Amino acid sequence: MMSSVSEAHRVNRPNSGHIAPPDFQALQDVPDSYSWPQLDENSSMDLIDPLVSVPVVDLTDPNVVDLVGRACQEWGVFQVINHGIPMGLIKETESEARRLFSLPTDQKLKALRSPDGPTGYGLARIARFFDKLMWHEGFTMRGSPIEDARKLWPDNYTTFCDVMEKYQKEMKELTGRLKRLILASLGLTTEEDLKLTGLGPSGEFTEGSITPLQLNYYPSCPNPSRAMGLAAHTDTSMFTILCQGDISGLQIYKDGVQWITVPPVSGAFVVNVGDLLQILSNGRFPTLVHRVLVNQAYNRISIAYFYGPTPNTQIKPFSKLIEPGDVPRYRCVSWGEYINTKAKHLNKALSLVSNMEQVENHQSHKT
Ligand code: OGA
Ligand code: NI
Repeated sequence: MMSSVSEAHRVNRPNSGHIAPPDFQALQDVPDSYSWPQLDENSSMDLIDPLVSVPVVDLTDPNVVDLVGRACQEWGVFQVINHGIPMGLIKETESEARRLFSLPTDQKLKALRSPDGPTGYGLARIARFFDKLMWHEGFTMRGSPIEDARKLWPDNYTTFCDVMEKYQKEMKELTGRLKRLILASLGLTTEEDLKLTGLGPSGEFTEGSITPLQLNYYPSCPNPSRAMGLAAHTDTSMFTILCQGDISGLQIYKDGVQWITVPPVSGAFVVNVGDLLQILSNGRFPTLVHRVLVNQAYNRISIAYFYGPTPNTQIKPFSKLIEPGDVPRYRCVSWGEYINTKAKHLNKALSLVSNMEQVENHQSHKT
């Protein structure tokens, strides 16, 4: 299983010449290899219409199940407040991330992620699918980051590890809560329903669940309209919990027509639908297309926690959501198999596991 995941990471690599981020601070302008086609006018960061904005959901609201369900269906994303995670821990985690990315380039390269490796410092995972490079550095963890942290700070890696572990523990708990809410909004409340996605009734993970924690760094950029922080993509997760701090940059693609900025809300987490939830909900909660723009004034940090089940979990639309006699929109695959398909085909992965042909045939049959 692991060997086929690694294989998937070796193919399709137009950018194989670039294996590490540069020293962005040393760049006076945006080099051609980082210069993306002019971003469209609608993408202006100032176009924030407060009437058309990503829903903010208070987790203590008595109607929370409804609110979450509506947000997932209409937006694919919402911001959660009153989540109970201490602001102090969020600030500490951001500041540890900042400390990591402020290290000298040579030092960061000591923890460079190997091309097939799951953890460490480096380019965005989606980088190899694009001809242009992104204005971004990343650091990925799975559980304790001790091995990589030792390479970065041989003599004092414990603070970083402690903070990252504490943060992941909080994320795990929040994941359990969010997952119960999301499934309840689909009418799925039994123990059996919860088990299907690799999380037990009280929110505990099955041993081996795939839950990477990704620190993202978007250095300030001399010419932001030519650069791209993170190109448009969907997340390989059931859902993702993102802390974007106080600096905007994240944009979502709404209704297939326009890019909308997700305005930073102090202390809130951005929760977005990932590919797995689109499959499980039989398309009712569509995965969110999103990207990140950069700016001239600030270095931006974000922290993304991706929730997925164990690789051998069989994933398919919940049978309770399929009308009797209808064909599910997606076929059954293991989560590991889906991760491999995504690593090879990026944005085409969902259509590769789709049953749309059969669904259409079936529908024309009915009429
Ligand atoms: C990601 C992502 C958004 C951000 O890491 O997949 O979309 O604001 N991050 O950094
Ligand atoms: Ni993402």
